[in-house]
Amino acid sequence: MTQSIRIGILAIAFGFISCKQKETKVAEETLPLTYEQMTASKEESKEAFNDAKYGMFIHWGLYSIPGGIWNGKKMEELRGPRVAEWIQFGAQIPRDEYAELAPQFNPTDFDADAVAKLAKDAGMKYLVITSKHHDGFAMYDSKVSEYDITDASPYPKDIVQELYDACQKYDIDFGLYYSHNIDWMDANDCGLSEYLASGGEEHARVKRKAGVNTWDPSPNTFTEYLNNKAYPQVEEILTKFPNMTTLWYDYPHYVTPEQSHKFYKIAYDLQPNMLVNSRVGNDLGDFDIPGDNKIPNDHLAITKPWQTVGTTNNSWGYKSYDNDWKSPKELLFWLTEIVSKGGNYMLNIGPKASGEVPQQSIDNLLTVGEWLNVNGEAIYNTRKWDVTHEGPTKLNMDGTGDREKHGFVAEFTSQDFWFTQKENNIYAIAFQYPENKILIKSFKNENDFEIKAVELLGENSAVEWKQTDEGLEVDLNGQQIDKNGYALKISLK
Ligand code: GLC
Repeated sequence: MTQSIRIGILAIAFGFISCKQKETKVAEETLPLTYEQMTASKEESKEAFNDAKYGMFIHWGLYSIPGGIWNGKKMEELRGPRVAEWIQFGAQIPRDEYAELAPQFNPTDFDADAVAKLAKDAGMKYLVITSKHHDGFAMYDSKVSEYDITDASPYPKDIVQELYDACQKYDIDFGLYYSHNIDWMDANDCGLSEYLASGGEEHARVKRKAGVNTWDPSPNTFTEYLNNKAYPQVEEILTKFPNMTTLWYDYPHYVTPEQSHKFYKIAYDLQPNMLVNSRVGNDLGDFDIPGDNKIPNDHLAITKPWQTVGTTNNSWGYKSYDNDWKSPKELLFWLTEIVSKGGNYMLNIGPKASGEVPQQSIDNLLTVGEWLNVNGEAIYNTRKWDVTHEGPTKLNMDGTGDREKHGFVAEFTSQDFWFTQKENNIYAIAFQYPENKILIKSFKNENDFEIKAVELLGENSAVEWKQTDEGLEVDLNGQQIDKNGYALKISLK
């Protein structure tokens, strides 16, 4: 056999084998991936999510024009939740009448660059904005629906695009909120009747008709809404904004398991590394949301990465008369308590109709940012430690209404410490400076910790310390770097 014939035979044989391989590969590839396979493939993104810890949520839309008051009536005098973005539901505003807000929406003071910079200066690592909330109005230039910023309002720019670009500039990760189930403009009764007809369980929420448009439902069916608006719009945003880290669905009460799967899968097909939150519904989702303004007491029972979303006052959308702003110290408490339990905190701002961000929320965010400038090492990229907190202060944060009703009553003491860990270091975070020395009981000699070094985060890091049978004793030498608190880095051998 000549050399060239031999090569020819080998080539044919190789071609045959690789053809076979290709066939099996094609077969494997065409098998639809299961949800478990899709979510399991996102490990790296989940780690990045667990590293980021702190981000900005933005609720902004037509509802910021009434700012929580409709025909002289405040949210509290209307029905449903008191949060201002629910005004259409609360006042049962007919669709055409609500849509008249669109021509009035002209946020000439909106400065995307300033908002992304605010997130950056506040120490936030990512940003998620409402691309479409429950009212159905899209804040980006949608080709699927004309009920959007560029077609229906006098404002000429695509707000989401502006923010997307600004976030790239400031190296802030980008995500979008999309209300997939509730759409008071186009989703008929938001799926309630179809859900019940499909054999969906009549659970408590269904009975309360939460979020359902009963006052002026659109004439199309919910299925038509899904096929003609929701699925295409989700595809549209994922294509238009290709570099996203999270897609944040909301309020999944009446979507079926098949519909949730489809919403999850659309996201996976277009941006396979992006994380989808659990509000896609029916137990799907790459990360969990324990609740609005809620810190879980049972964080160890949560198996997925998780995120608490919080408001800076008591509303997501701009509420003109809500001045119950969370102080920087309160915000730091939320962030620290959440991070000590292994979670992630996304804190909301609600711009006014003019585009201006309420000054108080800017100031408070920036004060937290200054604290993070010094102490961020104890927050970012950390993981939870065996002990989350020691000390007498116990606070139960149980939701938006709960926080609004009870306010924030906390007397932090110099014996209160929250812990996080990174490699061989444990961080102890405190909101109250001691009069003299401090004692951290979790580090008693008998607990078998061999401490190598202790330092105060910040410029003058030196402290005196010793480990005793009572705990770790530290003398801060009167240093008070930031009035809102400090963090110690405890390096173990
Ligand atoms: C709730 C509300 C909504 C808000 C969201 C934030 O689901 O319906 O208005 O956007 O929580 O987490």
